[in-house]
Amino acid sequence: LYARNVIVIEDHDSLLNNPDLAAEARENIKAGDCYVLKNAVSRYYCRQMREYLTLIGRNSLANYHAIAEGCPNFHRINRWDPRAYVKGCFHQFSFFPWNQDPLNLFEKTKNVYHVKNLMTGVPKEKFLGAKPDEGCTARLSFQFYPKGTGGLNKHEDPVDYHQVSATIMTMSVKGEDFFEGGSYVEKENGELVMLDDITGPGDVIHTNAQVNHGVLPIDPHTKEDWLSFEGRWMLLFAINKVAGNTAIREAKDLGSK
Ligand SMILES: [Fe+2]
Repeated sequence: LYARNVIVIEDHDSLLNNPDLAAEARENIKAGDCYVLKNAVSRYYCRQMREYLTLIGRNSLANYHAIAEGCPNFHRINRWDPRAYVKGCFHQFSFFPWNQDPLNLFEKTKNVYHVKNLMTGVPKEKFLGAKPDEGCTARLSFQFYPKGTGGLNKHEDPVDYHQVSATIMTMSVKGEDFFEGGSYVEKENGELVMLDDITGPGDVIHTNAQVNHGVLPIDPHTKEDWLSFEGRWMLLFAINKVAGNTAIREAKDLGSK
């Protein structure tokens, strides 16, 4: 599937309060439109989370855990790992709804999940509970793409009973934090819509998960320096199948762009 139009809505919560607008959005997302919902959280909040996670990223040993009920929140580094379904290079900080949430991350961002569920046509609280629901769970995943090497191959994600939209929030400023690359969706004529060019920290983007998308290499001509934490931050509002769920297919890597 290819990206169609970008529709910008200034008030993040307006889809939650307007059933007609929501019904229209559901149809448009299915057909390939992208929705930009402005200011789901503040710029200041994005900066605070970046600082907090940078300290964790610098000072903790990265580890991977399979997504299974009761698994811990974790910091992981994927450095073009050949075992991943979609090849990429980034730090990832994942949070699950069954763990204690001292920073109230899920509370702070719940409206984004409510919109995502609205796009799917399921109750707004679905997948946000302390146990998996129909073999799926919400996962808040902050991702950092380091300059010089960070990126993610073009791919499509599954659309099924758990989600229609791939949902991310911008957390960096292109032109300040990094200069080249970033998230994109692909149009039918091959043109890439660079999402960091049209959003700022706190803005949420919903695209049909099956629209070809990826992350072009961040400042590919600069020297990589993992500890500098210079590069691009974003927040992924994932709904994932847990281990053992074979009903939903895997994401499909479409190669580097
Ligand atoms: Fe994706």
